[in-house]
Amino acid sequence: MSTPFLSLRDLKVHFSTEDGIVKAVDGLSFDLEKGKTLGIVGESGSGKSVTNMAILGLHDPRNTTMDGEILLEGKELISASESELEKLRGNKMSMIFQDALASLSPYHTIGAQIAETYRKHTGASKKEARARAIEMLRRVGIPQPDVRVDDYPHQFSGGMRQRAMIAMALVCDPELLIADEPTTALDVTVQAQIMDLLKDLQQEFGTAIIFITHDLGVIADIADDVLVMYGGRCVERGTKKQVLSAPEHPYTLGLLNSMPSLDGPVDVPLSPIPGSPPSLLNPPSGCRFHPRCAFAEKVTDGRCSSERPKLEVAEGRGSACHLTVEQKRELFSDYAATRHN
Ligand SMILES: Nc1ncnc2c1ncn2[C@@H]1O[C@H](COP(=O)(O)OP(=O)(O)OP(=O)(O)O)[C@@H](O)[C@H]1O
Ligand code: SF4
Ligand SMILES: [Mg+2]
Repeated sequence: MSTPFLSLRDLKVHFSTEDGIVKAVDGLSFDLEKGKTLGIVGESGSGKSVTNMAILGLHDPRNTTMDGEILLEGKELISASESELEKLRGNKMSMIFQDALASLSPYHTIGAQIAETYRKHTGASKKEARARAIEMLRRVGIPQPDVRVDDYPHQFSGGMRQRAMIAMALVCDPELLIADEPTTALDVTVQAQIMDLLKDLQQEFGTAIIFITHDLGVIADIADDVLVMYGGRCVERGTKKQVLSAPEHPYTLGLLNSMPSLDGPVDVPLSPIPGSPPSLLNPPSGCRFHPRCAFAEKVTDGRCSSERPKLEVAEGRGSACHLTVEQKRELFSDYAATRHN
């Protein structure tokens, strides 16, 4: 088998805090190929951003312990030096954050910031870098890019700033783009435009994308594969169709039931998942979802609270739950009946 483009193997990211060790990511594995989009979904605090900041090497080593492997084209990144990571960031891999205003400097023009990133990684001249900045702004759909290149971030609307940040993230043709809730703050129309833009750019450059979101509707639009995180672990993964149409984990089922139907208006009341996300200082024993799981009592010997369910993955499909396939079929059938009839 060929080496996957990006591969996480049993990644652990733990933070030392005054209150103890926060196990933010606790044994996460996945592969991502070029030209594909992996959607990562999960409640607030499930470890989505921490995972992706680990890939970029952005955690402070003074209070962070990382374990496992992050392999980018076979090169291990956890043990890479800061200067090696610095070279990769912005060049081979880059990230779009939720808040463009906080990520752009208010003191420099949009064009200067894009050009600077380009110059840093390519050694291009100022003139070449400015031309490249204009070209990137044009590509992301900024009108009159040769004029707007000299605007400061506050002169751009929210949607335009987000586009500018995408232009900056893509200026060096990265092979991996991590988008952390890049459209949450935008209105629905602009959100749709940005998603289309990412899809176009992916087609053009063959970029691998990790797209983090709370919104399963966004996942349905953009992802090829989906990874569902709960309490710093993956509870379910598979293709978009598998995960959204035939979930195998009670938590995924809960997420789907707590949002409006993806395939048309259905008269089903929404039911949020009861309880709150787990403590990562003192995570629940066994299955981390057990204190909130409606099906835990169906599993014999109280295994849900004592034994960690393994994530068994075959051909990219898997879930971590003690329920048998037959139990799931029976217990989850209500979901299928109400949603897809
Ligand atoms: N530097 C840090 N020190 C201590 N704890 C941290 C640190 N960074 C993140 N955490 C904790 O790690 C957990 C996972 O955080 P993370 O930001 O990955 O969540 P998330 O899934 O991205 O959530 P959201 O959807 O709200 O963005 C949280 O409990 C958070 O408080
Ligand atoms: S292992 Fe048990 S508690 Fe965890 S999701 Fe499955 S049934 Fe629920
Ligand atoms: Mg986050």
